[in-house]
Amino acid sequence: VQCWGVVPAAGVGVRMLATRPKQYLEVAGASLLRHSLRALLACDDIRGIMVAVSPDDPRAAELAGLARVQTTPGGAQRADSVLAALHALQPLAADDDWVLVHDAARPCIDPADIRRLMVQVESSGSGALLAEPVVDTIKQVDSAGRVEKTLDRRHLWRAQTPQMFRLGELAGALAGARQAGVEVTDEASAMEWAGYPVMVVPGSSRNLKVTTPGDLEVAAFYLGGDAA
Ligand code: CTP
Ligand code: MG
Repeated sequence: VQCWGVVPAAGVGVRMLATRPKQYLEVAGASLLRHSLRALLACDDIRGIMVAVSPDDPRAAELAGLARVQTTPGGAQRADSVLAALHALQPLAADDDWVLVHDAARPCIDPADIRRLMVQVESSGSGALLAEPVVDTIKQVDSAGRVEKTLDRRHLWRAQTPQMFRLGELAGALAGARQAGVEVTDEASAMEWAGYPVMVVPGSSRNLKVTTPGDLEVAAFYLGGDAA
């Protein structure tokens, strides 16, 4: 079996409050999208990468000519973009090939962590995601602001990407969740909903998702340059 990459990069970045979608903001000499792609491309075992882009964004042209990279139009929600990219991969790949889904907005991913995830998945045969143990004390709160309880953080992990699953199973799970009206914010949620086992592989807290302007400064620090 082979391994492929899928990069959802079709969001608008509302929370970043910038004048362009955050995946095209430049940090340390390259866009967030290019940093994310560079880390995936550093893994020789990844056969090709399908990037879901906003069809009317001319900036997607920055990817033209990149070896092993293709683009396809994304959708309204992140899950729609991932599903569109999986469908675009299907003519090239087999259903039991593995797919690594990685957010364009996680530019600080270390290729060594991607490889660790791949080794873990290929040896166990179960799909998995990078995740980090929660360090904060987490409160469950009702709509009136009253604390109901404190959750046991030993069982709580923050989901990251990449998330690695079999192409056919993931496409089926995402399509099924959509049909059932179940909102999923990552691939693992769809796989859990469909009843597949999902494992966590410890990742690094450096692999942050760039969501707000402050995150951009942190990413710039980790990537070794200034935010522009
Ligand atoms: N994404 C996508 N298609 C969408 C929405 C999101 O491909 N319809 C991608 C984003 O480009 C990003 C990743 O999914 O790389 C994670 O989503 P998020 O951080 O929520 O990005 P945005 O949706 O762009 O940001 P916001 O929610 O603040 O608008
Ligand atoms: Mg979003």
